[in-house]
Parts: sequence; C-alpha cells; structure tokens
Amino acid sequence: MKLSIAIAGKGGTGKTTFSALLVRALREKGIRPILAVDADPNSTLADALGVDEGRPLAEIREQGSSPEGSPASGVGRARAIEDEIHRAITEADGFDLVTMGRGEGPRCYCYVNNLLRLSLDTLGKSYDAMVLDNEAGMEHLSRRTTNDVDFLIAVSNPTLPSLRAVKRIMQLSRELPINIKHRMVLVNRVASDSPLEVVESQLGPVEAERLPDVPDDEIVERAGAVGQDVFALDDQNPALLAVRAIVDKLCVAET
Ligand SMILES: Nc1ncnc2c1ncn2[C@@H]1O[C@H](COP(=O)(O)OP(=O)(O)OP(=O)(O)O)[C@@H](O)[C@H]1O
Ligand SMILES: [Mg+2]
Repeated sequence: MKLSIAIAGKGGTGKTTFSALLVRALREKGIRPILAVDADPNSTLADALGVDEGRPLAEIREQGSSPEGSPASGVGRARAIEDEIHRAITEADGFDLVTMGRGEGPRCYCYVNNLLRLSLDTLGKSYDAMVLDNEAGMEHLSRRTTNDVDFLIAVSNPTLPSLRAVKRIMQLSRELPINIKHRMVLVNRVASDSPLEVVESQLGPVEAERLPDVPDDEIVERAGAVGQDVFALDDQNPALLAVRAIVDKLCVAET
C-alpha cells in the first residue's frame, strides 16, 4: 500500500467529512483503489461517500466466535472469517468501504479481533491507499485499532477544547507501541474571524506538522446536515481545494 492514513480528533471536528474529501481527492489524483474504513460505531462515512454501508465487521466477529458460527478452530475458521470480510466490502468507483460496526461486546473475542486486524492488514495490500475514519477520542489508539500507519492526522477546529484534544492524541500516540511515520494536525473549519492566535499558541509544542487549513464552508456544512455525499460538491469547492493541497503534501512526505 502506498499510503495509510488514520484520522483522529475530538467529536464533531469534521473527521468523517475530511475522510470522505480525502477519498475523493486521492481518487482524483489517480491514487486508487482506496480502502475507506469506517471504524466509528456511529458510522456516517458511508453517507459522506454516498455508498451503502454494507455489513459491519463486528457482526462477523460475533458470529465467528459463536459455536454455531464459522468452523470451530484453526485454519478453517480463519479462512471463513476472511471470506466473510471480503463479502462485507462495499465496492464503488475507485474505492471500497468497509464498516467496523459497534465496539466490543460484553465478552472478549480476542482471537477473532486479532484475526480481523490481521485480515485488514492483508486486505490493505490490495489497495493504493487506506483512509481510516476513527471514532472521537483516543480509545482507538489504546485499543490499537489504529495500528501501523503512515499518517496519523488529528483533526481540530480553531477552538481550545479541540486543540487540547489534539495535543493529548499526539502525546498518547507517542506513548503506545504503535508505528506512525508522520504525525500531522489539521485545523478544519477555519473562518475569517477564527481565533488563530489560540491555534498558534496551542499547536506550537505539539511536534506534529500542521497541514494546510481547511476553510469553514457553508456548502460542506449543508451537505453534512442533509446527508449529501462529497462527490456532489462543486469541483472548485474551497474545502475540496484545500484537501487536494493536503493530498499533495502527503504524497511529498511519503516520497
Ligand atoms: N470544512 C467544513 N466546513 C463546514 N462544515 C463542516 C466542515 N467540515 C465538517 N463540517 C460539518 O461539521 C459537522 C461535523 O462533521 P463530521 O461529522 O465530519 O465530524 P466528525 O468529527 O466525524 O464527528 P463525530 O465525532 O461525530 O464522528 C457536519 O455537519 C459537517 O457537515
Ligand atoms: Mg465521524
């Protein structure tokens, strides 16, 4: 895989919108096929991409771990789960979507969880890029669903609480045994009256590269509100233009 990108950040900062814009901008640049992974139990990435969300992987996990599910043990069970994962993929033009579904149940299905992670690693090899849209907060880092990635992009708004969340995410990502090649910060929804001095003062000590800001755009906001996908946005939409510039930066960083 050429590029694997995990998106993190505080709730409502625009992670899903940015993930979907990223898929569009990567595809336009000819970096395809792309695997979009919705790792948020309250998934909306399918809507943002205008595709069916398909069958969540969590269902496979639960079925795979039940006695009447797939074969009891060993290679047969692993293969059955891999087949299920392939069936759970929604295919679209230039990208596929896989949805993780809701989090851990009351019991721990470590074996099947690990298989799922491994299968996703294997699956990732068939793609030129992977975009992982995570749930808000830092759970995904400690649970290690965000594993080895080229880029961890923490999305913030120009607000103190979300900037502080970015700092915590970056800090935790350094403390955990996960491999991240590049840590980057994206300030989303920047308007002419945004308090940029707060952004500067908070992001100074983060030790992560700041990507070009994404402007606050009322068309993007409206699209999100009515459940319209990012492919319906005008070719010259300002937020999309910013995300194209970000894709160029990511490509340069990886060469
Ligand atoms: N650049 C932008 N300009 C205007 N509105 C935006 C922009 N980016 C995101 N939004 C809007 O902000 C809202 C939240 O966006 P989104 O759902 O992508 O956030 P999120 O971080 O994924 O949220 P959650 O934590 O709930 O998963 C949506 O209504 C979306 O349309
Ligand atoms: Mg989201």
